[in-house]
Amino acid sequence: MNKLTLKDVSLENKNVLMRVDFNVPLDEKLEVSDDTRIKATLPTIRYILDKKPNKLILISHLGRPEGKKDPKYSLRPVAKRLSELLAQQVRFIDDCIGKRVKEEIKETKEKVILLENLRFYPEEEKNDSNFSKELASLGDIFVNDAFGTAHRAHASTEGLTHYLTSVAGLLLEKEIQYLGDLLQNPNRPFVVILGGSKVSDKIGVINNLLPKADSLLIAGAMAYTFLYAQGKSIGNSKLEKDKVLVAKEILEKAKSLNKDIVLPIDHIVVDNIDANASLEVAGEDIPSGKIAVDIGPQTIEEFKKRLKDAKTVVWNGPLGIFEIDKFSQGTYKVASFIASLSCISIVGGGDTASSIAKFGLESKFSHISTGGGASLEFMEGKLLPGIKALTDKNE
Ligand code: ADP
Ligand code: 3PG
Ligand code: MG
Repeated sequence: MNKLTLKDVSLENKNVLMRVDFNVPLDEKLEVSDDTRIKATLPTIRYILDKKPNKLILISHLGRPEGKKDPKYSLRPVAKRLSELLAQQVRFIDDCIGKRVKEEIKETKEKVILLENLRFYPEEEKNDSNFSKELASLGDIFVNDAFGTAHRAHASTEGLTHYLTSVAGLLLEKEIQYLGDLLQNPNRPFVVILGGSKVSDKIGVINNLLPKADSLLIAGAMAYTFLYAQGKSIGNSKLEKDKVLVAKEILEKAKSLNKDIVLPIDHIVVDNIDANASLEVAGEDIPSGKIAVDIGPQTIEEFKKRLKDAKTVVWNGPLGIFEIDKFSQGTYKVASFIASLSCISIVGGGDTASSIAKFGLESKFSHISTGGGASLEFMEGKLLPGIKALTDKNE
């Protein structure tokens, strides 16, 4: 990577302004219900604190409050959770720009400060240059560790970089290393697994990774558009009619590149998507009226066969409706199998990451991306605006 990173700059006595992605889910009591993204930033925060800065000022968005102040989207509960995780008090300031914010930053005795939701100002998403300047005036140096928001060209991700030296944080660097560099130059065999809900979400990823992969395994809801395109019966399983042609083109492209696309050969089917539904196994053709909710046992075995010698595995998209325990076996068994391999295993996608967390297998994967949309766009081979804007090494 030719961008400056934290290791290239001095932080001593500086006010370090860091964009993080603390866009985490809150429960009905407005407490953080999943702190994965906060934890993923801790190594960067600790690294910075070790370098004796004057203050570390954290900025983030949470949810989509549409440019209005809304207590439902306050970052205050995140400051509380971060204080617990760091075992040190984090000062929360209930605004993110202006004179009062500056004074409070100056006066507080706490080293770490979290400012209120950037998206309470419409200027954030509009990438307004005056708003960027206001934010930039809070720090002496800018660190971007918000990989999850790197696909957005907003005032706090892209705009700010025009006013301060801008470097990648450790999390951002790690994401680039795995999803960028490693996918450019994978150890082989390189197997890609794609699942999840929609073909339309994943076309860009397929087009970018198909030429690079040795095999591409497709499951989840999106497999049924491909199976339909091959002339199979798919019952009432999810079909994107307007993507059948695209699926046909992808299957043709794979043929011309001499690449294997492996689709499910059997399925777990139900009459209704319901936790109490009774399960049946269907073979290649799904009887009319039945809905496929998971891959079947033969498909699991076929996927394992394709995976067993892999040196790099990239996975995006659950293989069934994993949110319902009964329909999660395919996703679980394939996840456990990958976890048992000695290969580089990379996971992208919010729901895929949640499925692995649900199975308690996080520590067995080489890298689980903190990005949803950002990891998909990165896997499409796009240069993300938040990364592109960072200061070049030779600048
Ligand atoms: P990610 O967030 O990891 O990129 P997606 O958002 O593309 O994944 O897809 C996740 C969703 O796909 C899950 O909510 C899951 O229930 C759904 N899904 C997986 N398999 C099926 C299926 N056979 N039928 C309907 N939905 C499915
Ligand atoms: C995410 O959760 O994908 C990021 O935090 C970006 O959020 P957004 O889709 O609301 O821009
Ligand atoms: Mg998703």
